[in-house]
Amino acid sequence: MVRTRVLVVGGSGYLGQHLLQGFAGKPYDLAFTHHSSPPQRLLDAISPPPFAFHVDLQTGQGFDAITNAFGQPHVVVNCAALSVPRACETDPTAAMAINVPCSLVKWLSSFGDSTTLLIHLSTDQVYEGVKSFYKEEDEAVPVNMYGKSKVAAEQFISSNWPTFVILRSSIIYGPQTVSPVTKSLPIQWIDGVLSRGEGTHFFYDEFRCPVYVKDLVNIILALTEIWISDNRQMQLVLNIGGPDRVSRVQMAEAVAACGGYNTSLIKPVSASSVNRGVNSPADISMDISKLVRLLGITPISFKDGVKLTLENDDPS
Ligand SMILES: NC(=O)c1ccc[n+]([C@@H]2O[C@H](COP(=O)([O-])OP(=O)(O)OC[C@H]3O[C@@H](n4cnc5c(N)ncnc54)[C@H](OP(=O)(O)O)[C@@H]3O)[C@@H](O)[C@H]2O)c1
Ligand SMILES: *[C@@H]1O[C@H](CO)[C@@H](O)[C@H](O)[C@H]1NC(C)=O
Repeated sequence: MVRTRVLVVGGSGYLGQHLLQGFAGKPYDLAFTHHSSPPQRLLDAISPPPFAFHVDLQTGQGFDAITNAFGQPHVVVNCAALSVPRACETDPTAAMAINVPCSLVKWLSSFGDSTTLLIHLSTDQVYEGVKSFYKEEDEAVPVNMYGKSKVAAEQFISSNWPTFVILRSSIIYGPQTVSPVTKSLPIQWIDGVLSRGEGTHFFYDEFRCPVYVKDLVNIILALTEIWISDNRQMQLVLNIGGPDRVSRVQMAEAVAACGGYNTSLIKPVSASSVNRGVNSPADISMDISKLVRLLGITPISFKDGVKLTLENDDPS
C-alpha cells in the first residue's frame, strides 16, 4: 500500500512547526518547505526526520526537487505567507507574490492529475470588522493589504484548484515552537509586559476569537484523515477560531488572572487612538458553528488555552 505523502509548505513558521509535530505521530511520509533556515532543533526532535526543501514561493524555485525526491503529495498544507499585516502594507508586491500561491498551484498542476488536497491558511482579516460573529457566507471586505492578498489567494485557489479547504483563522496562540520563531507571540508578549510590572495600553474595542494552536493542528489532522478515507472532492471554506469573542483588554485580563498580575497594569484605550501604520478591522469575531458541525471538534476556551500556553512555555 502506498503511504500517504503530506507536504507542509512553510513548515519553519509558527503553525508549520506545530503541524510537523502533529503529523510526526501519524503513519504518513512527511516533507516540508522553508525559505530561510530549516528549524534544526525541531528536526532533531522528530524521528524519522521529515524531508526538508528550500522553496521560494515568489519564484517557484525549489519545487522540482520535491518532485524528484518526494513525489506528488496527497495533501499539501500551505502555511507560508507574509503574515505580518504591517509588512504587507509596506510591500504589497511581495504580499501578493507570496500570499497568493500561484507557483504552488502551478507545481501541483504539473503532475497531470488534480488529486492533491490543498489545505490553505487564510485569515479572519478577510472580513471588514463592522459586526460580530461573521459567517463564511458573509462578504469578504478586507481593510488592509494583508487581507486583500488573502482574499486574492482564496479566489485564485477556488478558480484554479478543484480540491481545497480554506481555513480562515483568527489569531493563533500557544506555546513557542521547538525551534523558536523570532516574531513575538501574543500571549507571551502580554505575559512579558505584565510580569515586568509595565503598565500597558490594550484596546477595548477590537475583538477576535483567538484559537489555540493545538486545536488548529487537530483540525488539519482531521481534514487530512477525512480526505484519505473518503477521497471525495472537497471545496470547503471554514472559519477557525476559539469559542470566545475577546477584546485585547479581555485577552490581557485572562493572562493577568493566570499569572497573578495586577490588573491595574492594563490600561484600556480605543484602537482608534493609535496609528499602527496599517488599518486593523475592529470586530472580526467569527461564528464557528460550521467547523464544530462538520468536524465535531470544539476548540478550548481562551482561559484554558492561556493556561496551557504559559504552563508549557519554559522561560529559560
Ligand atoms: N499566526 C497567526 O496568528 C495567524 C492568524 C491568522 C492566519 N494566519 C495564517 O496562517 C499561516 C501560518 O501563520 P504563521 O504564524 O505560522 O506564519 P509565520 O510564522 O510567519 O511563517 C511563515 C512561513 O512562510 C514562509 N515563507 C515566508 N516567505 C516565503 C517565501 N517567499 N517563499 C517560501 N516560503 C516563505 C516562512 O519561511 P521561513 O521562516 O523559513 O523564512 C515560514 O515558514 C499564514 O498563512 C498566516 O497568514 C496566522
Ligand atoms: C495594584 O496596583 C495598584 C496601583 O499601583 C495598587 O493600588 C493596588 O494595591 C495593587 N493591587 C494589588 C492586589 O497588588
